[in-house]
Amino acid sequence: MNAQELRSKYLEFFKSKGHTIIPSASLVPENDPSVLFTTAGMHPLVPYLLGEKHPGGSKLVDVQKCIRTGDIDEVGDTTHHTFFEMLGNWSLGEYFKEGAIKMSWEFLTSADWLNLDKNRIAVSVFEGDADSPFDQEAYDVWKGLGLPEKKIAKLPKKNNWWGMEKGPCGPDTEIFYWVGEPNKIPESFNDDNDLWVEIWNNVFMQYDKQSDGTLKVLEQKNVDTGMGMERILAAVNGLDDNYKTELFWPIIEKIEELSKLEYGDKSDEEYIKDDKQCWVDVRKQFRIIADHIKAATFIIADGVVPSNTGQGYVLRRLIRRAVRYGKLIGIEKDFATSVAEIVVQEYSNHYPELAKNRALIFAELKKEEEKFRKTLDNGLKKLEKCLSNPERNVQYKIEDGLQKQADVYFNDDIVSLLFFDLYQTNGFPIELAMEVVFEEFEKKGVSLNKEKITEKFNKLFEQHQELSRTASAGMFKGGLQDSGEETAKLHTATHLLLAALRNVLGEHVFQKGSNITSERLRLDFSHSEKMTPEQLAKVEELVNAGIEANLEIVREEMSLDEAKKIGAMGVFEAKYGEKVSVYSIVEGGRVVSREICGGPHASLTGALGRFRIQKEEASSAGVRRIKAVLE
Ligand code: SER
Repeated sequence: MNAQELRSKYLEFFKSKGHTIIPSASLVPENDPSVLFTTAGMHPLVPYLLGEKHPGGSKLVDVQKCIRTGDIDEVGDTTHHTFFEMLGNWSLGEYFKEGAIKMSWEFLTSADWLNLDKNRIAVSVFEGDADSPFDQEAYDVWKGLGLPEKKIAKLPKKNNWWGMEKGPCGPDTEIFYWVGEPNKIPESFNDDNDLWVEIWNNVFMQYDKQSDGTLKVLEQKNVDTGMGMERILAAVNGLDDNYKTELFWPIIEKIEELSKLEYGDKSDEEYIKDDKQCWVDVRKQFRIIADHIKAATFIIADGVVPSNTGQGYVLRRLIRRAVRYGKLIGIEKDFATSVAEIVVQEYSNHYPELAKNRALIFAELKKEEEKFRKTLDNGLKKLEKCLSNPERNVQYKIEDGLQKQADVYFNDDIVSLLFFDLYQTNGFPIELAMEVVFEEFEKKGVSLNKEKITEKFNKLFEQHQELSRTASAGMFKGGLQDSGEETAKLHTATHLLLAALRNVLGEHVFQKGSNITSERLRLDFSHSEKMTPEQLAKVEELVNAGIEANLEIVREEMSLDEAKKIGAMGVFEAKYGEKVSVYSIVEGGRVVSREICGGPHASLTGALGRFRIQKEEASSAGVRRIKAVLE
């Protein structure tokens, strides 16, 4: 079955069940600045899931293009992609669990539709927790359809729950397909076995998640399903690798032609068994290139061009990563456009925006690739020089009372400075700088303490950001847009917030950026996981306790060295020259907060009012963002 047949079958099946076919929305969300890309079919439909009437009625079906950069590190295996298509059917207050599950089962297994082998299917349902009970209803429907109990796993929220930071959400049931050998289908489902591939997710949206993390029961119960097009196409064609489907194969062939290497037709496992790990590595590079150039092509077609912020930055990162992986398999000359050409050719039938924007796509890809090749060459030369000059980096150790030369040793400072340099001077995107440095060192057999180095790099980065922000803020002292009373209060609240975050989350939290308007504060800080509702509540509580204690904000002038000695946070050397201002908030002899800062600040914390977090979200890799207000 080819891709277009599959899309049509899916749309037709749900049309025959009374659904209206709606078109794919853009990859760039139109009315939602809180996310960069459309990550799921539900995204453009949020208002309707919350009760607004959809012009197409209350049963909808679509094929939505999606970008998920959260999975970028997994791209390279057989089933993960940054760009993918999601087949989705939607019930806005119509059918619920029983209806949805039965239709999924019929579409997958009926001889009239996909005719997949029932024995190769397993499912999971939500096991229940303090927020929401075990999904007995979904469980019973699956059992009623004849699925053996061992193939109905009960799993926690981490697996069987879907929603975004806020808004419609609920338990889900996931459908898995056995992609291993047909005569080796296990009797029970095991979440850890990669040969059980998730193909379809049916989400039962029965709650509306509030900003504070609590769940409000939705009056209108909805169904949101999402089936990965690439995965299901592989399954119906009996393929063990999404990249062998028609959605990728012509792209892979192009990469074969450009690199003069072969993708090979065995499975990864077979190559590993034959002791051919190098084949698996080459394939990984093929897959990353195919995925990234495809994603970049679609993103440009939706009007984004490479830049250093937001969607443009993601796009830049995708293109640059593809170029680098291309280089690893020997593609030295302009290749992004030749690969994109195939994407445009293969997809324009269903997505005419590709053909329409062909010239723009090619021009942007070419420009970015050329620019990056220069960057990459210079950066790699620099890295090579550092690696081939070990004398500077020799460490000595004492053994049996004698001083001996230990292995070549690159200390954390040298390495973090090196990749900061690659980032700043050579324009390597940060993640790529890290990736390249770590990989090159590993190739030479030098092992590194990644965590320490990342931490040190983050400090340098923070410093750099502050400096460039100050430079662009120009005349605005301390980066504030105006120095009215409100912003002074918010500035003080930002200090209390940073202190509270370090208290609750740990000492790895540093300020990565801050922006204050007269209405709200925004703080970016280093922390790599989403904060839990409990942590958010605790942080709010600590800040409000600091406010209620009505503490004095004391300003002192001193040299930068003195400031560092007394443990002041923040780095503003270049801005303030010799003397810096240090603002301290002290409670009963304990330093609550001490930061080098340009102010202005409130004089007493009691003036701040009540502090409330509006939103906690990802800002970039390893950086979270909080927006908060004073009420
Ligand atoms: N929103 C769910 C998902 O993305 C189902 O569409 O998996």
